[in-house]
Amino acid sequence: MAQGDTELEARLEEQDEFEPSEEFVAQANVSDSDIYDEFEENWPVCWERAADLLDWDEEYDEVLDDSNPPFYEWFTGGELNACYNCVDRHVENGDKNRVAIKWEGEHGETRTYTYQDLYREVNEFAAALRDLGVEEDDVVTLYMPMVPELPIAMLACARIGAPHNVVFAGFSAEALATRMNAADSRFLVTCDGYYRRGDPLDHLDKTNEGLDSVDHGVDATVVVDRLGDDGFGHDLKGNQHDWDDLLDEQGGERVEPVERDAEDMLFLMYTSGTTGQPKGVKHTTGGYLSYATWTSHAVLDIEQEDTYWCSADIGWITGHSYIVYGPLALGSTTVMYEGTPDFPNRDRMWDIVEKYAVDIFYTAPTAIRAFMKWGSKYPASRDLSSLRLLGTVGEPINPRAWKWYYEHIGNEDCPVVDTWWQTETGGMMITTLPGVKNMKPGSAGPPLPGIDAQIVDTNGDEVKPGRAGYLTVNKPWPGMLRTLYNNDERYISEYWEEYSDTDSDDPDDWVYFPEDGAKVDEDDYITVLGRVDDVINVSGHRLGTMEIESAIVGVEGVAEAAVVGGNHEVKGEAVYAYVITEDGYEEGDDLRARIIEGVEDAIGPIARPEQVVFTPELPKTRSGKIMRRLLEDVANGAELGNTSTLRNPEIVGEIEAKVRAQSD
Ligand code: PRX
Repeated sequence: MAQGDTELEARLEEQDEFEPSEEFVAQANVSDSDIYDEFEENWPVCWERAADLLDWDEEYDEVLDDSNPPFYEWFTGGELNACYNCVDRHVENGDKNRVAIKWEGEHGETRTYTYQDLYREVNEFAAALRDLGVEEDDVVTLYMPMVPELPIAMLACARIGAPHNVVFAGFSAEALATRMNAADSRFLVTCDGYYRRGDPLDHLDKTNEGLDSVDHGVDATVVVDRLGDDGFGHDLKGNQHDWDDLLDEQGGERVEPVERDAEDMLFLMYTSGTTGQPKGVKHTTGGYLSYATWTSHAVLDIEQEDTYWCSADIGWITGHSYIVYGPLALGSTTVMYEGTPDFPNRDRMWDIVEKYAVDIFYTAPTAIRAFMKWGSKYPASRDLSSLRLLGTVGEPINPRAWKWYYEHIGNEDCPVVDTWWQTETGGMMITTLPGVKNMKPGSAGPPLPGIDAQIVDTNGDEVKPGRAGYLTVNKPWPGMLRTLYNNDERYISEYWEEYSDTDSDDPDDWVYFPEDGAKVDEDDYITVLGRVDDVINVSGHRLGTMEIESAIVGVEGVAEAAVVGGNHEVKGEAVYAYVITEDGYEEGDDLRARIIEGVEDAIGPIARPEQVVFTPELPKTRSGKIMRRLLEDVANGAELGNTSTLRNPEIVGEIEAKVRAQSD
């Protein structure tokens, strides 16, 4: 920090509420505070405002059908096509030359797609998919890094009514196969590789390994050639096709967007839960698209003229809603960046903001913490004056990081929206409307208009302001998941059972439970405290501890394992694995390396344990339940909680000593 900043830092440190500037409010898409009352008084009809941002082929009959909770239906009877809304209508409205996607590769090469370019490629790829045998409702898996072909493939799927199932490119071969098997997906679009910190990574090899484990076989795979001469020289197999060849064959082909029912599936996205099996979250065409578009308009304040950049990966829900569907439905310019924020230098993000004169920037607290650590000289070396609004998502942001972002990136001029939401919610749920509400660093804000959230105790009774409780949502919303793919029962047990009267068909008796802890203040601002289930949040990514545990116990020599999250300066949480070895196997670096490899093979490098701690026993209650809370305390170097209910209390001290020795 420069000397002159000290005074400013001190002032910001004391301030706990920030007002948006008059200039921002004057231009904001939503700036009238009546919107909260309007939504409340006219619920659920008020959600027409979201639907009105889209073009419908067939008007809907009813905004909400809540006759069979929790299987809610939105905009019933309506028909539309998501691709038409994100591409065609802008071309038809005279905006064909507006830039839709600005892409930058890690090495600095750039590609620009106007809406007309996007229209052409999406049509050609949609035609290619049809020729490969993809029919309406077939699930197409997209296992791709941050290349423009990913959003093009998503939109092409949407155009022909084939739900996409994007699998994060950093996931392992096994994770790909698990998701393709669960979704019964027979088509795959992938990539030969991509660049990370300057080096090419072989993605096709991993893909092929995953395909070997797809039980039902695969009808066709399309491979994007990203690496060119840097490629790894794999020959394409019989049912594998080169993306460019397919497009060349189609040359200018057009495909009519199919009219999809509002409730037809737009995509599936697998996310981690408390069991070892990921959950297939189902999102629909009408409700999801309306909601992603509405929140992009109202919260991110995106206008057509804007250059907007969300630095997430499209492999996660944030990228789906706020790189692809929301910004493109609004006809704006969305920026995509392939690589890491510190390649070739730590000013890469700010270089991109300056180069494209980015208006709105949306990122994750984990990234902000890394930027903070690197120092303010990097953003200070670039012209960031184009920025109008900043956002964060994925995990709680502490006030210090919030203020650093506000000051060093936003120059105290840009509102910061801290947006709480989930894969399941489809879009933002709790955050400030930046043109209406003041910001309170550390608190996401009030529920958005039309969202009915409450903090309750274990009995479901509302807790007083300032007290910690459980976050619940009492009314449905258009962007909500409709079910877990092929598993209505798990949908109910995961999200509804806790606080609902599941025998009732009165929607007022149904309460959605996102499995987050939270507290609320006198102004209805909600501070989200983190997950209350066995899910941890590493760098804003959700990982099930059970998934990691089952990978670890699959390693030869491991008898039992317990995984918890421990605080981490940059990642938010890091994976701590406590492992009991099988008789005859030695604790040590060899087994540790195999455990790490086992986790990377089963899930991917993001789940890599920060520490593997060998122990003869795990702390267990008399009934045999592992006391994870104590293991968390150990990981965090915190004072140990109550050990009196343990049958082996002495083990906790032993484990603690080991962790300390390993961290030194
Ligand atoms: O615990 C909450 C945390 O991330 C979880 C959702 O993870 P995922 O489905 O992967 O989606 C991430 C991107 C939307 C939530 O249950 N979370 C997300 N945003 C915030 C947050 N925690 C605190 N503050 C946030 N703004």
